[in-house]
Amino acid sequence: MALFCLVGLSCTAFAQQNKNSAVDIESKIDALMAKMTLEEKIGQLNQYTSDRLATGPFSPNSTKTEDIKAGRVGSMLNVRGVKDTRDVQALTLQSRLKIPLLFGLDVIHGYRTTFPIPLAEAASWDMDAIKLSARVAATEASASGLHWTFAPMVDITRDARWGRVMEGAGEDTYLGSAIATARVKGFQGDGLGSLDAIMACAKHFAAYGAGVAGREYNSVDMSDRQLWEVYLPPFKAALDAGAATFMNSFNELNGIPATGNVYLQRDILKGKWNYQGFVVSDWGSIGEMVAHGFAKNKSEAARLAITAGSDMDMESHSYIDNLVKLVNDGKVSVDLVNDAVRRILRKKFELGLFDDPYRFSDPAREAKVLDDPANKKAAREVAEKSIVLLKNEKQLLPLSKNIGSIAVIGPLAKSNIDMMGFWSVKWDNDHLISLYEGLENKVSKQTKLTYAKGCNINDEQETGFAEAVNVAKNADVVIMAVGEAYDMSGEAKSRANIHLPGVQEKLIKAVKATGKPVIVLVMAGRPLIFNWTANNVNSILYTWWLGSEAGNAMADVIFGDYNPSGKLPMSFPRAEGQLPLYYNQKNTGRPLLNAKDVLYKSAYIDLPNTPKFAFGYGLSYTTFSLTDLRLSKEKICSGETLTATCTLKNTGKYAGAEVVQLYLRDMVASVTRPIKELKGFQKVYLKPGESRELSFVIDKEKLSFYDQTMKWTTEPGQFKLMIGDSSDHIELETNFELTDSTPSAHL
Ligand code: NOJ
Repeated sequence: MALFCLVGLSCTAFAQQNKNSAVDIESKIDALMAKMTLEEKIGQLNQYTSDRLATGPFSPNSTKTEDIKAGRVGSMLNVRGVKDTRDVQALTLQSRLKIPLLFGLDVIHGYRTTFPIPLAEAASWDMDAIKLSARVAATEASASGLHWTFAPMVDITRDARWGRVMEGAGEDTYLGSAIATARVKGFQGDGLGSLDAIMACAKHFAAYGAGVAGREYNSVDMSDRQLWEVYLPPFKAALDAGAATFMNSFNELNGIPATGNVYLQRDILKGKWNYQGFVVSDWGSIGEMVAHGFAKNKSEAARLAITAGSDMDMESHSYIDNLVKLVNDGKVSVDLVNDAVRRILRKKFELGLFDDPYRFSDPAREAKVLDDPANKKAAREVAEKSIVLLKNEKQLLPLSKNIGSIAVIGPLAKSNIDMMGFWSVKWDNDHLISLYEGLENKVSKQTKLTYAKGCNINDEQETGFAEAVNVAKNADVVIMAVGEAYDMSGEAKSRANIHLPGVQEKLIKAVKATGKPVIVLVMAGRPLIFNWTANNVNSILYTWWLGSEAGNAMADVIFGDYNPSGKLPMSFPRAEGQLPLYYNQKNTGRPLLNAKDVLYKSAYIDLPNTPKFAFGYGLSYTTFSLTDLRLSKEKICSGETLTATCTLKNTGKYAGAEVVQLYLRDMVASVTRPIKELKGFQKVYLKPGESRELSFVIDKEKLSFYDQTMKWTTEPGQFKLMIGDSSDHIELETNFELTDSTPSAHL
């Protein structure tokens, strides 16, 4: 151990908790920095990928090992596992100052145990479940040598063509901010220094989700108002929850690449928000400022990035190749370098890596934690909660476990690999449960399961249809599994056509023509378009990609062991032409009041404006009523709060959970406001016949907006308050008045 100690630092062997005090850490950083050469400092700002796993474009770099040994690397991504992290850490301990490496990986929805994709988890509207998922991921990842995940992605996503919608929390700022908080807290647990905590990374700063036409890496042009109102709040929530790191993004924002954007990183993040963690660039994004036409060459890109506040260079080599010269030539102030280095060293101290660089790389702990059955149980629970029931004609679902025969049809019915989703950490497939396996695990001995694939996910062949139809004809009920392959939504997976791929909808039509009751499960990473299916089959479950326990969770819902409670976190379009699509739109001067009267209205002449399935929508096997809306006051001033109370009752036969949603509309303001905005929600579990009084508190923050001068303020006037079980199903509505105008400090 003594080998790893720096002068003046103590070696505490394998401490469970390793919390250094902030003051101690600052003086230890001072002492260390006093010893560092400029080259060694810039080494801390350099992050390379392992050659074994690439999550971006790269060419193997033959000097990597030598660079690590020479102290020219501060962090590695894509190295994972106790053995590999120990081997690579051992290289850095051959360097002069033995500064430990940080190991980062995209632990996006689970590590060894794959959890549902983040968009699916968002559909749970269950912050405890979302936090638990991140907690388990952090516990497993930290036991496997990792210090850092590049998650959560907190980009707001309004365009389902963008493949990365799967990685976020959907279209809404309020829900997205709550989820950002839950995920950061889940990853960071009791705080850096705890053995089961990893650093979170709020990404991609900022506005990456708004690329023109839903095309990956595309430019973003956005008003400051929309940036502050819609896109920044989840980042602020992540910061307030203690996110240790931020990642900037590939996109330009209003002509300035985010990576070289002073306004975003210096003025907002490190200035106004006083962020003390560090910013890592996205993969190669510093170098990509050359292709953007923002920098002449990588040297200029390095100068622009460090000036703008990008602390660590992920895999573009721009810092390591150019910064020493830039500083020596007086083109970059050494103060900028020192500030970035301090931020990175601070995290290494907080994690306890100077006390023991291998403290997260203990083989015994890795073996124990990765095989913990509690993790699978958690994955199954979160997966059940992520499923959304879109349709259930004549209560076809849930099925009886004693049903005589079920035909299981479709290209995803026996797939386990696709259950893992795009951003899962790859292992063998045998820890992933397919739908078919989940059904087999669930049904009684009398039930006969038959199977036909029907077609592949994305082909034009219909040769398998006849067999599928035949299997359907001989069964009591048909369950169909359709959707996307795991690599059809994710990074660099934008699609211009987001209809159910290939001939899958044709297969559904052929099977439905048998006259058998048909239940369709759609497994996908984004909202897909499947209008015929939505209009014609009996029941639809949107299951997304649910992870390790997918099949078991789906079977739990199909047979009623879990009553579905998910609600859509994104609007589902009827056609790609509606995109971007989101519920919190503006009224316009010519709103569409009557769907039949579109002339001179803000409308399409060939399609309704509305989504096929709305934000916040999702059914249950039971029914709920919402009644008895009361307000504590009808007029308030900004210093007061208002409480809206209503009663939720389970009026059906099954126990279940409802997500009650509160929306507000500011009727007239100096800046036009959306027709409704989510400002509160509660997920409530009730037994049949049970009722509960629910209260929502409305304060000044929920009534404020950015005025014409971009001041966060309230204005006097009428507000509409709406409560419902979906953004398009408001059951209770009333008005109240705000009597004054009070600006406040915000964001
Ligand atoms: C690029 C992605 O945009 C980012 O989210 C990810 O963390 C990095 N690659 C590392 O894999």
